[in-house]
Amino acid sequence: MAELADEAMEVEFDTVASWTEQAVRALGPEHAVPAGCRGSGSESALRWLADGMDLSTGSRVLDDGAGVGGPAGWLAAERGVRPVCAEPMVGAVRAASHLFGLPAVVATAQQLPFADASFDAAWCLGVLCTIPDKPAALAELRRVLTPGGRVGLLVFAAVRELTGPQPDGNTFPTVEELPGLLAAAGFALDATGQADLSDSPAEWTERADAVDAEIERRHGHDERWALAQEQSGRVGRLLADGALVPWLGLATAR
Ligand SMILES: C[S@@+](CC[C@H](N)C(=O)[O-])C[C@H]1O[C@@H](n2cnc3c(N)ncnc32)[C@H](O)[C@@H]1O
Repeated sequence: MAELADEAMEVEFDTVASWTEQAVRALGPEHAVPAGCRGSGSESALRWLADGMDLSTGSRVLDDGAGVGGPAGWLAAERGVRPVCAEPMVGAVRAASHLFGLPAVVATAQQLPFADASFDAAWCLGVLCTIPDKPAALAELRRVLTPGGRVGLLVFAAVRELTGPQPDGNTFPTVEELPGLLAAAGFALDATGQADLSDSPAEWTERADAVDAEIERRHGHDERWALAQEQSGRVGRLLADGALVPWLGLATAR
């Protein structure tokens, strides 16, 4: 079971990351951010989180579980910072580095290769739900932030019991348990919200769809594409049912 979950995660977050990089190279750099933000979905959510993170030029920013680097690339372009991407999947780390020219390291959120208090701010988008040991990941995030550092979170969180096929490798927290998890790790929760995953500009959606179509053209015959589609489809169905919500949080390291 754990192996199946690992395989599903590897396909969704490693193989498809490399395919995304190839497709963006074929279609053009303006496709990189929309395709790279597939996991976090909404530009207005990125904006809300970035506004709350008290960024200024020169802020040291971590993207924890950065995927292919779309949100970090967006932050660099919009807010003039140069986020460091940390992400366990090698294909995604390469994509973040190649597509956005950002520093990117292979690392899990539970074991970040940075000294204490290395960052002034961080975000962690769609990642906590993929990590069984959430206290360890949050404690590590707290460790690498300076006291007073701000963190932005997007967490797919359950509001009721989840029924139907579940995406392999995900352990969704409940909305009720998130404040306690953050407090236990040394964060003060300042604000919460909910992302609207359908409100990105039409151009974003068109470009992300074009990248998906290009991946499908190149790899549609590969069973790993079908597996990745099934995985993301399962999350989509739980969100559409309202059993899962895209929870947003802003917190300060105490
Ligand atoms: C839904 S994607 C989100 C990616 C990116 N943050 C975004 O918003 O586009 C979840 C990411 O979490 C990563 N991940 C899985 N396990 C992790 C862990 N233990 N530590 C850090 N990241 C992890 C996956 O490889 C994947 O890139």
